[in-house]
Amino acid sequence: MKKLILVPLFTTVIYAGDSWYDKEDIVKGKELFTKNCAVCHGKEGVGPKGNWREKLPNGKMKPPPLNGTAHTWHHKPELLKQIIKRGGATYGKGYVGWMPPFKDKLSNKEIENVLKYIHSLWADRVRKDYDEFYKIK
Ligand code: HEC
Repeated sequence: MKKLILVPLFTTVIYAGDSWYDKEDIVKGKELFTKNCAVCHGKEGVGPKGNWREKLPNGKMKPPPLNGTAHTWHHKPELLKQIIKRGGATYGKGYVGWMPPFKDKLSNKEIENVLKYIHSLWADRVRKDYDEFYKIK
């Protein structure tokens, strides 16, 4: 009887460790985010004060919220990684942004952890659809 209970429990533990949403990675990602990104994107990615869609006086974008209330989840994971690595200069569609690049500051693994943390801020429904679409587990 004891064995029957232990086996499924063990499987669950292994699965949790293998998941893309590793708890430790998310905790590390949060630390990195708070240190490097929150100054512009707000605590927990809530975005700047006021309307983030309004342009700055110099025509540049405000740092958008990253918590799922803006358009972060419209972009595929690869593009989000590229934006973090290269910054806003290569934002696309002719727009030259001003977000600084992080490729010399953060390792690939650290960028992935930050991204995991950002995903963890999204509403469950948004994250589920995104993960299903991009086959993130
Ligand atoms: C100096 C301000 C600043 C800092 C620091 C900053 N960002 Fe940004 N970020 C921006 C701006 C502004 C944009 C919009 C594009 C542009 O103009 O560069 C942006 C865009 C983004 C986007 C694309 C969002 C979307 O919905 O299109 C992501 C993802 C992102 N930043 C992640 C990060 C992460 C992760 C960090 C920390 C490692 C970070 N940013 C640090 C200013 C900043």
